Amino acid sequence: MSLDWLDGKEFSINTFLLMDRDMISVIADQRDAKVVEALSVILSNNETLKWYLINKCPECRNYFVNLVNEVHQYYDKDTLKEYEDFLIEALDTLIVYMYPEVMEKLDYIALWDEERLLSITDFSNKRVLDIGSGTGRLAFSVADQAEFVYAVEPVFELRDYMRNKSKELKYENVYIIDGKIEALPFPNDFFDVVVSGHVFGGDYEAEYLEMCRVLRNDGYIIDCPGEDERKKPNGPSKELIDMGFEYSHYVSKSDGDVYRYWKKIKK
Ligand SMILES: C[S@@+](CC[C@H](N)C(=O)[O-])C[C@H]1O[C@@H](n2cnc3c(N)ncnc32)[C@H](O)[C@@H]1O
Repeated sequence: MSLDWLDGKEFSINTFLLMDRDMISVIADQRDAKVVEALSVILSNNETLKWYLINKCPECRNYFVNLVNEVHQYYDKDTLKEYEDFLIEALDTLIVYMYPEVMEKLDYIALWDEERLLSITDFSNKRVLDIGSGTGRLAFSVADQAEFVYAVEPVFELRDYMRNKSKELKYENVYIIDGKIEALPFPNDFFDVVVSGHVFGGDYEAEYLEMCRVLRNDGYIIDCPGEDERKKPNGPSKELIDMGFEYSHYVSKSDGDVYRYWKKIKK
């Protein structure tokens, strides 16, 4: 789903050449008919990109090969550019991960106030995990107070960005590592607080159990989104409430509804 974050004309189709295997498999999972058509046209007219996607993500080979087989027509430069601009805009929520400086300027990060996280619990001397850190919105917010923060992020460009930022800010207690919410690279009972924003929810039950595993008894799981601009007429997440999360609501600076969730975990 596009959130109108990027102007396709400003970004090259070569952005896809920065993507790693995981991201390519997310691209191969896109089912929107217009996105599939654009991918099909672009790959039929761009041998380098086709070669890269197939070889970087071998499990997606059949998908991409079949896409290209469906299109026999070659397109002129201008028409192709229109398809490319469309694809970049349609996949903006993924493409933006390749451009952390642009991502950090998006409203949901730039307008967000760290008090929204710091007011949920006391982070003093806590061992904190931030899952799917992105540009480090949550991780850096607690770094001054926490004993240490592990920022787990699967995208190389975002890890690289956070490492530079951490160095600039002179943090010595922020550790940035590769990993995913499905299989956190930590032993049991390691953290006092696990935070995330816009990550939890692909598979609520499995992800919840994995977060509980790395959390000590009486630790907290916190889901703290940024300054979302979307109205949520259906209210807070039913899934999280059913799992026993408490929540609070506020109206974001961009006039959307933001729900923050937390749960103390008894083991
Ligand atoms: C919308 S961004 C939010 C970034 C950050 N949490 C924030 O709220 O500012 C989602 C982040 O989750 C990461 N991500 C995607 N799939 C993930 C997974 N399975 N496990 C952990 N992180 C994931 C993405 O790479 C991206 O950095």
